[in-house]
Amino acid sequence: MKTKIVILFFLIICALLACKKQGIEESVNYSSIPVLPEIPYVYPKAVTNELATLGRVLFYDKNMSLNNSISCSSCHQQAKAFCDNQKFSTGLEDAKTQRNAPSIFAKSGRMFWDGRAVGISNAVLRPIKNHVEMKFEDLDKLAAKLSKIVYYPALFNSAFGSLDIDSLKIQQALLSFIENFTFSNNKFLQSLTNEHILNASEFNGKILFFGKAKCSNCHHISGTLGSNGYGSTNESFNIGLDLAYADNGVGSITNNANENGNFMVPTLLNVEYTAPFMHDGRFKTLDEVVEHYNSGVKNNSNLDPLLRNTTLVGNMTEAQLLQQFDVNHDGIITNNEISSIPTQQLNLTVSEKKNLVDFLKTLTDPSILSDKRFSDPFKH
Ligand code: HEC
Ligand code: HEC
Repeated sequence: MKTKIVILFFLIICALLACKKQGIEESVNYSSIPVLPEIPYVYPKAVTNELATLGRVLFYDKNMSLNNSISCSSCHQQAKAFCDNQKFSTGLEDAKTQRNAPSIFAKSGRMFWDGRAVGISNAVLRPIKNHVEMKFEDLDKLAAKLSKIVYYPALFNSAFGSLDIDSLKIQQALLSFIENFTFSNNKFLQSLTNEHILNASEFNGKILFFGKAKCSNCHHISGTLGSNGYGSTNESFNIGLDLAYADNGVGSITNNANENGNFMVPTLLNVEYTAPFMHDGRFKTLDEVVEHYNSGVKNNSNLDPLLRNTTLVGNMTEAQLLQQFDVNHDGIITNNEISSIPTQQLNLTVSEKKNLVDFLKTLTDPSILSDKRFSDPFKH
C-alpha cells in the first residue's frame, strides 16, 4: 500500500514536471506585436521581400527562445553593428556564451569562429537550439508555438502561400533576411575609384595594411571584399594570442592538433563598432589589436609562419636554410623547426600605428546602425 502511494506520488510529480516543461515551451509572450510597413521594404538579395520581412520579425522575436526572454537581436544588436559589445554574451537565465558574438554578415563559406558550419543557411538554426543562447531544442515545438501567435500565420502565408509553419521555412526566412546584411558602402571602397577621398593618415594606413604590416595576406579586402565576401576568408590561422590556448578553436572541430588555436579570419567591415575584439573579446580597442601584431605575437608552435620574422629566413642562402631547418619538397619549413624562428616585430612608429587604426575605420558603413529595413519591428 505504502509503495503504491509512493509510486502514485512519483507519477504525479513527473506529470507536473512534464506539464511545466510543456508549459514553458508553449507559453507565448503577446506583450508586443510587430509593426510592419504596408508595402514591404526592398531586400535586393531575398527571393521575395515578404520572405525577408518574415525573417526580420523572427530575428527580433523573443518568442523564438524557450522562455521568451532572448531573440537573435539580444546578442546581434543593430545599434552595435549586430554584435553586443560584450566580451561574452548573455543567453537564457544569465548563462554566458563561450565566445565573443561577431557582427553578422552576408558571407559564405565556413561560419562561426571555429568554422563548424558552412554557409548562413547551416548557421541560423543553431543558435535557436543552443543551450546557452535560445535553448529551443525541438524545432517542431517551436513551429507549433509560432503557429499560435496571432501575427505569424499571415506572415508565413505571404512568404510561402500557405499557413503551415515548419523549421525549414523558419530557416529560409532567417537566411533571406541575413543575406541582405551587406553594409559595405565605405570610404575604402570609394577610394578604389577616387584615391583623394582618404586623408593622409588613412592613406598611409592603407599602404601599411597592404604592405609592411602584412594584414592583407589574411584579411583579403579588395574591390569585392574577398572571395567569400566582406573581408573574411575561408581560412583559419593561429595568430599567436597565447602560448597555450584555453580554446582550441578550429582544432577542436577538425581534431587536427596543428590547428589548435586557429580561428577563422573575421571580417573587418565596420570593425570600428564591433569591440571587443578576437574570439574571446580580449582586446578592448583597435590600438590594442594593432599592438598585438606589432609587438605582442606569442611563439605558439602553431603560429602562422607569416607572423614570424621571416626576413631572417629570407636573408639566408639555401645552404644555410637547409642546415638550420627541415625543408619539405615545396621549400616550406616543417612545423617543429619553424618555432625556432622568432615572432615578428613590426617596429611600427606611434604614427604608423595610428595610421593603421585610421585605415581600419575607413571600412565603416554607418548605415549599419540605422537602416530601417534591419530595425526592430517590435519597437515602435
Ligand atoms: C546569447 C547570444 C546569442 C544569441 C541569442 C544569438 N547569437 Fe548568433 N552568435 C553568438 C555568438 C557568441 C557567436 C559566435 C559563436 C562561435 O563562433 O562559436 C554567434 C555567431 C553567429 C553567426 C556566425 C557569424 C560568423 O561570421 O561566423 C551567425 C550567422 C549567427 N550567430 C546568427 C544568429 C541568429 C540567426 C540568431 C537567432 C536565431 C542568433 N545568432 C542568436 C551569440 C548569439
Ligand atoms: C596570419 C593571418 C593574419 C594576419 C597577417 C593578420 N590577421 Fe588579423 N586576424 C586573423 C585571425 C585568424 C583573427 C581572429 C583571431 C582570433 O580571434 O583568435 C584576426 C582578428 C583580427 C581583428 C579582430 C576582429 C574582430 O572582429 O574581433 C582585427 C581588428 C584584425 N585581425 C586586424 C588585423 C590587422 C590590422 C592586421 C595587420 C597588422 C592583421 N589583422 C593581420 C588573421 C590575421
